[in-house]
Amino acid sequence: MPSELTPLIQTVRVGPPRRRYPHQTCRRFCTIACTCLLIGASVTIALQALFLWPYQHHHGRHSHYAMSWHNGKSFSHKQLRSILLNTPTAENAREWSRYYTSGPHLAGKNYSQKFLPRALEADVSKAEWTMDKWQAWGVEASIVAYDVYINYPVDHSLSMLKQSSKAESWNVAFKASLTEDVLDEDPSTALDGRVPTFHGYSASGNVTAPFVYVNYGTYRDFEDLIEAGIDLEGNIAIAKYGGIFRGLKVKRAQELGMVGAVIYSDPGDDGEKTEENGYEQYPKGPARNPSSVQRGSVQFLSVRPGDPHFVVDERNRSTPGYPSKPGAPRAPVDDSTPSIPSIPISYADAIPILKALNGHGPRATKLNKYWNRNLGLGYKGVEYNIGPSPDSVVLNLYNEQNYTTTPLWDVIGVVNGTIPNEVIVVGNHRDAWIAGGAADPNSGSAILNEVIRSVGKAVEAGWQPLRTIVFASWDGEEYGLVGSTEWVEEYLPWLSDANVAYINVDVGAAGPRFQASAAPLLNRVLRNATNLVLSPNQTTEGQTVGDVWDGTITTMGSGSDFTAFQDFAGIPCIDMGFKGAPDGPVYQYHSNYDSFHWMDEYGDPGFKYHEALAKVLGALLGELSNTIVIPFGAAEYADALDGYLSKVEDKLKSTREPTSDADVFTLRGAVLSRDVTGSSNAFEESLKTVRKSLAALRVKAAELDGRAAWANRKLENGLPWWNIIGKVKLWITIANINTQYKYFERNFLFEGGLDSRSWFKHVVFAPGLWTGYAGAVYPGFMESIDAKDYNNGLKWAGIIDRCIVKATESIK
Ligand SMILES: *[C@@H]1O[C@H](CO)[C@@H](O)[C@H](O)[C@H]1NC(C)=O
Ligand SMILES: *[C@@H]1O[C@H](CO)[C@@H](O)[C@H](O)[C@H]1NC(C)=O
Ligand SMILES: *[C@@H]1O[C@H](CO)[C@@H](O)[C@H](O)[C@H]1NC(C)=O
Ligand SMILES: *[C@@H]1O[C@H](CO)[C@@H](O)[C@H](O)[C@H]1NC(C)=O
Ligand SMILES: *[C@@H]1O[C@H](CO)[C@@H](O)[C@H](O)[C@H]1NC(C)=O
Ligand SMILES: *[C@@H]1O[C@H](CO)[C@@H](O)[C@H](O)[C@H]1NC(C)=O
Ligand SMILES: *[C@@H]1O[C@H](CO)[C@@H](O)[C@H](O)[C@H]1NC(C)=O
Ligand SMILES: [Zn+2]
Repeated sequence: MPSELTPLIQTVRVGPPRRRYPHQTCRRFCTIACTCLLIGASVTIALQALFLWPYQHHHGRHSHYAMSWHNGKSFSHKQLRSILLNTPTAENAREWSRYYTSGPHLAGKNYSQKFLPRALEADVSKAEWTMDKWQAWGVEASIVAYDVYINYPVDHSLSMLKQSSKAESWNVAFKASLTEDVLDEDPSTALDGRVPTFHGYSASGNVTAPFVYVNYGTYRDFEDLIEAGIDLEGNIAIAKYGGIFRGLKVKRAQELGMVGAVIYSDPGDDGEKTEENGYEQYPKGPARNPSSVQRGSVQFLSVRPGDPHFVVDERNRSTPGYPSKPGAPRAPVDDSTPSIPSIPISYADAIPILKALNGHGPRATKLNKYWNRNLGLGYKGVEYNIGPSPDSVVLNLYNEQNYTTTPLWDVIGVVNGTIPNEVIVVGNHRDAWIAGGAADPNSGSAILNEVIRSVGKAVEAGWQPLRTIVFASWDGEEYGLVGSTEWVEEYLPWLSDANVAYINVDVGAAGPRFQASAAPLLNRVLRNATNLVLSPNQTTEGQTVGDVWDGTITTMGSGSDFTAFQDFAGIPCIDMGFKGAPDGPVYQYHSNYDSFHWMDEYGDPGFKYHEALAKVLGALLGELSNTIVIPFGAAEYADALDGYLSKVEDKLKSTREPTSDADVFTLRGAVLSRDVTGSSNAFEESLKTVRKSLAALRVKAAELDGRAAWANRKLENGLPWWNIIGKVKLWITIANINTQYKYFERNFLFEGGLDSRSWFKHVVFAPGLWTGYAGAVYPGFMESIDAKDYNNGLKWAGIIDRCIVKATESIK
């Protein structure tokens, strides 16, 4: 109640009695009644005008979308949609792709001309170029710098040494080339200053040791080796890429006392299009080029992303602005990067090394079925023996990295909305491991540019979004999501308050298959957006992206810039893109052959899928930023939580009872302890309590969705101009619904974080501790079951139940 109104009421009440009139009591009553009515009406109008103005003013008549006014003319959602769906073109996307892939842009490089030997026109930096483009398209943009600790490659070598007899000296039997072939057809492969093959955050070192083939290097693969009695300590691991995040392969090797790791790309994991199956190799055909090397970070991503020397002090979480800025205090040591050297190699370089193991130690095929799959080099004479290598054969692995604290640059664009505290963030990273990077990440960069160009056009035509839109071109993603993590840490208080959703596009187009992960709150609006865009698939004319898509939405894991938003700040996220099909051309991830030429010939000829994703992203952004009621689905979230709980129960069952083959497969990559702590029955009982709380949440969540549907119907049907009370009621309801939707996901944050990785705060979504990319649900439960520590499971039942109850109580 506004306080200045109180004296007015008192004046009326204590006014001098007018004795001359007999009906004074009646008159006084009338006066008070009239005054009260007047005050009531004024307060209502004032409330409406002041607090709900942004919603009300921008209400499109008979529509649940906001309407913009510009120079006395209105701009409807229909017009907005038309601009967002018709502006992006394949030709433009192709042009941006060509620009981004025309020179190296490793994290922290390529800021401005002053770092270049010659200020050539084409050498304008990618950070500045991106900012200039966004500004030219009408979006306010700036560059945000962070000082981060990263490594650049200096030197490396990998040699196999042999000794013909005990007394002889060691000879170099094979020296790996560690470089990728320059191809006449593909100019990116010959660019000056192309990036050497190396691992981000790998340790420098020079080790000489026998070696062991460790399959994919998962936790369970190493367990199998221990069980088979293979010596690991003091040896170098030869691992295949695939399955889990590469840093976790190095992590486990290091924990078991191995002294180095070599990771290669086995064509057995390339699907249908292999040389063995009769396909020509890139650039002549769709199969992998034998010299292609997968670079990448070996940070322990599932433990903590971001600058490894910069840890947010738990006590500072509420302090605004605590990112990795120059001069900020740094942790002296880090637990998120390896201490043993590692190196990535091609399969051409791997063949002689693997062949040296022929006849030594057990055959992989004999170990178990997980070792007997995708062995793609048999036709080259590799027998896949595990080793260790005989006494007369060793590897020398030399890796020198220059660790330095250097700035990197996020480009941030803003389109102000009319509601001050509701924000949608859309991001893609700009840095790549290679000079090209046509799919990862610059298909996403080209797509983001097309979306920004479309939004700029809409703004020019008179649109102002209801919610503020923030665009981000992240730097340093490849090393460990560094640019986005630092930004989220810097703006955490603001994001916690205002960020409604984050949409990520990393590899936006590398093939025809639409794939998405999302927090379940966003499932519905994502599905709707895919139904607004026609699929470029020629054989399915007239069908939308949504029609062609199988509709699977996976859970949020890690491996791209949504991680800090979803897992640290509790902001619902979407990650999406068109990926390659298993029977499609081989996508040579993080190699020089992820180039413009490859994209143009094999990945997305004609750039049609670039265009399609720009339209899906534009449509999605249009919905999220312009619907009056935030387009979330809370009931779907509650249902998903219920489904995840069933997964926990299934896992518990399969751990206690004799496992079927299928169960074992889902457990691969996990830690299986042999010792039981606590009672699994008590733990199972506690899951029933959680199930009950979820039922209560489901009821409340459906009520919230019901109120949202009611509000949307009211908005569509409209209210007569004189029904001020009805309108105020509606607008207050909408403001409440939006607040409850906006903060819903935050209820699932636990301040203490997950066991042994406190940076991760979300109790439902996290990367699997030993998978890295793939999402784990209820990580607290899953890891307790893996460790057979049911007391810890009980602890998590308490924590998770409190989060669910809090979420239930947040709905009023
Ligand atoms: C920066 O990027 C541009 C455009 O792709 C490229 O031409 C240039 O060589 C790069 N400069 C450096 C120093 O990497
Ligand atoms: C690596 O160490 C070996 C001895 O173990 C030495 O002969 C070799 O020169 C070293 N390599 C480099 C590049 O330092
Ligand atoms: C972080 O927290 C510590 C302990 O409360 C305090 O001494 C320090 O000044 C804080 N740092 C910042 C940047 O707020
Ligand atoms: C390491 O990087 C720093 C900063 O980029 C540079 O000044 C220095 O010359 C580099 N050192 C080597 C050995 O490459
Ligand atoms: C957007 O809003 C911010 C904060 O209110 C303001 O500083 C900025 O100038 C605005 N930008 C535009 C383009 O109006
Ligand atoms: C196009 O759609 C058809 C039918 O859904 C499917 O069989 C085919 O694989 C798709 N083609 C591509 C290139 O995705
Ligand atoms: C999605 O589309 C359906 C059918 O057109 C519509 O009823 C629903 O409101 C939409 N939901 C969202 C979240 O936009
Ligand atoms: Zn990427």
